[in-house]
Amino acid sequence: MLLGVSGGIAAYKAASLARALLKVGATVQVVMTRSATQFVGTATFAGLTGRPAYADVFDDAERIIHIDLAREADAAVFAPATAHTLARFAHGLADDLVTNAYLTATCPVVVAPAMHTEMWLHPATQANVAVLRERGVRVVGPDAGALAGGDVGPGRLAEEAEILAAVLDVLAPRAEAGALAGVRFVVTAGGTREPLDPVRFIGNRSSGKMGFAVAAEAARRGALVDLVSGPSHLPDPPGVSLHRVETAAQMRAAVLELAEQAEVVVKAAAVADFRPASAASQKIKKDSDEVPVVRLERNPDILAELGAAKGDRILVGFAAETDLEEEHGRDKLRRKGLDLIVINRVDAPDAGFNVDTNRALILGADGSRTDVPLTTKAEVARLLCERVEALLSARHGGRAPAGT
Ligand code: PMT
Repeated sequence: MLLGVSGGIAAYKAASLARALLKVGATVQVVMTRSATQFVGTATFAGLTGRPAYADVFDDAERIIHIDLAREADAAVFAPATAHTLARFAHGLADDLVTNAYLTATCPVVVAPAMHTEMWLHPATQANVAVLRERGVRVVGPDAGALAGGDVGPGRLAEEAEILAAVLDVLAPRAEAGALAGVRFVVTAGGTREPLDPVRFIGNRSSGKMGFAVAAEAARRGALVDLVSGPSHLPDPPGVSLHRVETAAQMRAAVLELAEQAEVVVKAAAVADFRPASAASQKIKKDSDEVPVVRLERNPDILAELGAAKGDRILVGFAAETDLEEEHGRDKLRRKGLDLIVINRVDAPDAGFNVDTNRALILGADGSRTDVPLTTKAEVARLLCERVEALLSARHGGRAPAGT
């Protein structure tokens, strides 16, 4: 594992990341920019990893280190990655050991940016990050929070657990693409918005990340995926037909129609259970003497509706819970007529809403249970697709589905 450290205050956190990587069994080789050594010395990393940490292409006269180290690595993580390092990666510059190693690396690459908010939000940095993403680099964070000099905002290095989960994910052996070839999936994602008036709504914190990850994984395995999503800022997953909706009623209409042709429905969306009984046609004025009272009415439960007319479809629900209580999950599984339910934690900062990681318990109608400790949403999606594949294969007499 190659750990590239560039020069920002968060460089001190790379020492802890190196230890975390060692703990999960990685051999860690550290390369640093010159300015990173102003924050943490090479001796710190050498002491932690048991290998010399290098900061210059000429640090070992015996070998061409930027070539050797990058070729030996099965993954490379650059944390923290400064605006300057990201710019050099995006433009293919090779003016020090870190950038030379990046250009040489053919292994999966994770970058964890950290910098001041203005630098992160600058269009140049955003464009550089977009280029890296397009080229398959996994970008983790940055988070919003306290920065050097007392500032607060986006730009803080992502949490160590999140970076570690991304590294483990890019290292995970990938399933054979095509295992779900031709199988029609409907996946839902994001939260619904229930309007109070033309500008205000009742919503929730779902970002769409979990549902998008399921859609992307199913498509990668060859499934024909319709993704019905509430408002989300995420880019369209490749190879997926995206249907954007706002309200629970719109989601219901889209899902029920698309589900007629589907063999598998996965409902990761956080659907509003209630909506305002009536939405004002004009913006509600704040200077009126009367404070408005909002009366709510129940939204239909889309999943329960699908469960009641299930037919041969495989139905997968998600449950947002503050613990991974099995009894409660099994009850939901039964009541909604599901084949699988993914119970995920929503009370921890590294799981549930609007983060790249999750903690889950996958329960099957056949009594099976799979504990999924902290990992990426992509990995949860991978495990879920494997379970769906097994169910389909059992239905097709142990053979992989032929497609529809
Ligand atoms: O989008 P992210 O930021 O990545 O966050 C992901 C998530 C936490 C939203 C996701 O992993 C998750 O847990 N989704 C389900 C949240 C939820 O609404 O749970 P619930 O217990 O209220 O609903 C159970 C199931 O019924 C869900 O599959 C839900 O889609 C479905 N449902 C709920 C209400 C309703 N009116 N119609 C439904 O179909």
